Amino acid sequence: MNMKIAFVGKGGSGKTTLSSLFIRHLAAAGATVVAVDADINQHLGPALGLSEDAAAALPAMGARLPLIKDYLRGSNPRISSADTMIKTTPPGSGSRLLRIREDNPVYDACARPVELDGGAVRLMVTGPFTEADLGVSCYHSKTGAVELCLNHLVDGPDEYVVVDMTAGSDSFASGMFTRFDMTFLVAEPTRKGVSVYRQYKEYAHDFDITLKVVGNKVQGQDDIDFLRAAAGDDLLVTVGQSDWVRAMEKGHPPRFERLEAGNHRALETLRTAADATHAARDWERYTRQMVHFHLKNAQNWGNERTGTDLAGQVDPDFVLREPGSGPGARTGSAGAGTGAGAEAGAQASEGTGAEAEAGANAETGAGAALPA
Ligand SMILES: Nc1ncnc2c1ncn2[C@@H]1O[C@H](COP(=O)(O)OP(=O)(O)OP(=O)(O)O)[C@@H](O)[C@H]1O
Ligand SMILES: [Mg+2]
Repeated sequence: MNMKIAFVGKGGSGKTTLSSLFIRHLAAAGATVVAVDADINQHLGPALGLSEDAAAALPAMGARLPLIKDYLRGSNPRISSADTMIKTTPPGSGSRLLRIREDNPVYDACARPVELDGGAVRLMVTGPFTEADLGVSCYHSKTGAVELCLNHLVDGPDEYVVVDMTAGSDSFASGMFTRFDMTFLVAEPTRKGVSVYRQYKEYAHDFDITLKVVGNKVQGQDDIDFLRAAAGDDLLVTVGQSDWVRAMEKGHPPRFERLEAGNHRALETLRTAADATHAARDWERYTRQMVHFHLKNAQNWGNERTGTDLAGQVDPDFVLREPGSGPGARTGSAGAGTGAGAEAGAQASEGTGAEAEAGANAETGAGAALPA
């Protein structure tokens, strides 16, 4: 499986907590993970167990945009300089692509290993946000550094990018919200919690976004009913108050296997749902959408800001695709598709197990997996 996954939601809903648990879950299962903190409040490092000092010392992607742009641009003749590269500038012939497992100058500059139970992950952070970063058309956009990386990333089997992200106007305008195979919208069972879901759903509508709601801080059947009424089948799973998370917040994270069993099951439900989107991945659509948003951003502010006609950066023949996949549009994904099918069987049965226990979990509120 190879997946780009975002956790979005209202401030304080639990994006960082659930991203960090999901990252730990993947790492414990032996998957290769790049974790990205693109949240306004930069807390993913500490949630993965880094001390405040270690987290503060992480290199900020936002401060390394020129390096990122220069590397990704490679020898692409359509991009005359890093200065004319904006956050939506798509890769083309000559561009350098990023792979999850490789070493490259972008990781050297921006990623740091974080040791978790089960193995290390790479962590990249945008760096702290200021007022100026929240503008839609910001040339120096910090989330733009992430968007550029996602648009130049070809991920292979058992590789995951997990992004902790704010559902802000920035990501809607730039197209960042279309860059994921799966978007988990974290919602508390409150009116505000579900209003962010409704907003996201509206934006997602025209772009074939796969969006699933993860209920958080759910305490009982009432909470589940409330979320179900708002999100219907989009509600994938719910997570209750976790003592493990509380202990971690106090600076004493127990071993990950000691996370509540219901929450472990909830995390596996997330992985199963994310993996299931693999078959639907369409590199041509993915490339088309990045071009769409690039042209929109070029017209709205990029052309003026760079003094260049940025439409000229689009390479009409280029399709971003998986390593090893041939030039034929669907040949590459067909091979990977076989693996997806094979794994689907095993995961489907785990899903059934989780659902069977949903009733019991609902009472305690700890990680109830909900029937679809
Ligand atoms: N399931 C849970 N069990 C226990 N505590 C939780 C749970 N989910 C979230 N919390 C706590 O709620 C608080 C907010 O969570 P978190 O920081 O993950 O939210 P966020 O959406 O990332 O917030 P922000 O918008 O500030 O980045 C944290 O103190 C976190 O430990
Ligand atoms: Mg957060």
